[in-house]
Amino acid sequence: MPVVVLVGAQWGDEGKGKITDFLASQAEMVVRTTGGNNAGHTVVVGDEEFKVHLVPSGVLYPATLCIIANGVVIDPKVLIDEIDSLLAKGVTVDNLRISANAHVIMPYHVRLDELEEESKGDSKIGTTKRGIGPAYMDKASRIGIRMGDLLEEKVFRQKLMRNVETKNRLLQKVYGAEPFEGEEILQEYLVYAQRLRGYVTDTSLLVHKTVQEGKKVLFEGAQGTLLDLDHGTYPYVTSSNPTAAGACVGGGIGPSRVDKVIGVLKAYTTRVGAGPFPTELLDATGEQIRQKGREFGTTTGRARRCGWFDAVIARYAVRINGIDAFAITKLDVMGGLDKIKLCTGYRYGDQILSEFPISQEVLESCKPVYEEMPGWPEDISGVRSFEELPQAARNYLNRIKELTGVDLFLVAVGPRRDETIVLQEAFS
Ligand code: GDP
Ligand code: IMO
Ligand code: MG
Repeated sequence: MPVVVLVGAQWGDEGKGKITDFLASQAEMVVRTTGGNNAGHTVVVGDEEFKVHLVPSGVLYPATLCIIANGVVIDPKVLIDEIDSLLAKGVTVDNLRISANAHVIMPYHVRLDELEEESKGDSKIGTTKRGIGPAYMDKASRIGIRMGDLLEEKVFRQKLMRNVETKNRLLQKVYGAEPFEGEEILQEYLVYAQRLRGYVTDTSLLVHKTVQEGKKVLFEGAQGTLLDLDHGTYPYVTSSNPTAAGACVGGGIGPSRVDKVIGVLKAYTTRVGAGPFPTELLDATGEQIRQKGREFGTTTGRARRCGWFDAVIARYAVRINGIDAFAITKLDVMGGLDKIKLCTGYRYGDQILSEFPISQEVLESCKPVYEEMPGWPEDISGVRSFEELPQAARNYLNRIKELTGVDLFLVAVGPRRDETIVLQEAFS
């Protein structure tokens, strides 16, 4: 099975970075297909921690070609900073390629993201304020600037000046904010263009050729299913499609080329930003999970909201993405809890829902139906096989498997590469 798509099966931060890094050792190519520097992926190798936002999490393997594909929105300054910090740590980025069709995040996108959030008051989304939504808005409005445009000064100037004029009108007239100086942005971005020129290419063609050659290709995920613009908890979502089908559009290949879809699930649930979260824990147990799991955002540093595992969501992710196997992460964090709860359905009025409701109003008033299981006191971070896990941990995993109807291919018991229990080969 040479082409594998990895997706976040909850609200992001499931540990996709760790799983991508783990699988990248076997892959010839890793492709990032959606989102931008709203993502924050952590890869831990030995004592060293790498945080990446735009560069694929496969970058630590010099022989693995890393693609930032057409579906991604790129803040070039952030990307250059990230490249520089990888270089400073001795990581080569010669294996990086960027799509000429990827859209560029401009300073006015970041400013508009901030202003839009401020203007929403109590109903704000809690975005990362990285300009993601406004950049995708320009893409959909067909006025966006792409990486390819950035490399053609005349084209870039023309598109930029037109955009600055309309954005300034919006900034001044609607928000009463300071306007941008087009020429200043132009000069700043031309420097970025020079720096990134060598990486920019037709990545869809590159991916296609690699797939045709039967090589192993991994589409790494960003964000998560419940943050999907179409299928997530709208409007509390991101502005792209981080689900499996989105990986095809964002990477430039057809769905018939994908052999397997892997979902990444945390052993509990977290969410950053606003929006419904049926199993959220606002008590000491939630705090215990947050502290033990170090649940603070990789991108914004915000405390992540924590809650019990939600099988309704996991089943929904299976349906939306066509998930064939799950990687369960952070099982070690559950150690030391007396009792563990799993949500098996939602109570809505006098009904029990087993499917994720399509109406957000219904979801807002759903209460979780829990099943309780005994926890385990042991530290399992040193465990490397399923059989060695405490019986209670095995029962918990088996219950997740039953409730979702999907096999587990890997269980992570710590952030490091080796803190991993492999149950199945991913690329077979
Ligand atoms: P991503 O956005 O899905 O890539 O996830 P993040 O990197 O934002 O957040 C996951 C965090 O959990 C990171 O700090 C990882 O190093 C860490 N992590 C991943 N897997 C495990 C695990 O199995 N156990 C523990 N304790 N930490 C993990
Ligand atoms: P990774 O790839 C967790 C959330 C934000 C906010 C909403 C919209 O690390 O899993 P945006 O800036 O995208 O317009 O914000 O989406 N969000 C994430 N939450 N992990 C992420 O990425 C996220 N990317 C966006 O917190 O609620
Ligand atoms: Mg993250």
